[in-house]
Amino acid sequence: MPPALLDRARHALTVQALSEYGSSVSMAQMVESLARARMPVDLLTLAAGFVAEELVHAECFARLAMQLGGATPIPFPSEQLALALPSTLTVRQRANELVVRLCCVGEAFSGPMLKAGAEISTNPLIRAILDRLVRDEALHGRFGWLYLDWVQDQLDDKERTRLGAAAKDALAQIMKLWPRATLEKRAPFGLESLGWLPPHAYRERALETVESAVRQPSNATGFCSNEPLLKEQAAFHQWNNLSHGRPCSLAGLALYRREKAFD
Ligand SMILES: [Fe+2]
Ligand SMILES: [Fe+2]
Repeated sequence: MPPALLDRARHALTVQALSEYGSSVSMAQMVESLARARMPVDLLTLAAGFVAEELVHAECFARLAMQLGGATPIPFPSEQLALALPSTLTVRQRANELVVRLCCVGEAFSGPMLKAGAEISTNPLIRAILDRLVRDEALHGRFGWLYLDWVQDQLDDKERTRLGAAAKDALAQIMKLWPRATLEKRAPFGLESLGWLPPHAYRERALETVESAVRQPSNATGFCSNEPLLKEQAAFHQWNNLSHGRPCSLAGLALYRREKAFD
């Protein structure tokens, strides 16, 4: 592997390890809130396992980075690992919001995206790791809907609206991290064998995932988070047409049609 590509791979793995490490802290925060909100012990036990699983994910990526020569230095303020929530929230509201942000949005999105990475990876070790992560993240995502099932009778309209805003914000935060599609034009991507989608493919898959794994289920539960998605879809289609001078893909077109149906 050329040295520049190796450095990018080490950096990408370090970012991924840090992200999983942060997830373990957020999950611990969620478990504490769920316990304070007196969640049934079987669901609580399930959620408690997520903390250790996120740490295993972090370790997998950290070890891969070590295999390629070591992690790259990334400064991060550890106090920012936990989610900052308003101190005015009740115990139950904190639990609701953490589950919505972490599971119904974050985990529901990351599972299918890791699956997309596993599909393109040609390295058996990385594929095995990504497959393991996909299984874990799928359960983390499903937990969000299990929780909402349990809590739904106690949610009034005001709380549903508040959770809708939280979901919308969580989605917007995730979208900020998506790779810029224009980067792809500068140099060949080259990290597909390690399970990283090139920026353009990533954005297209990410849009489909937000629609199918986040927005549709959240609509079904009564809180909607489509505003950032619609904005992103418009920007994506504009970029796609301008950059390539061709119509967007069939998947992109299907999204576009659905977008028009919302008008
Ligand atoms: Fe994870
Ligand atoms: Fe997870």
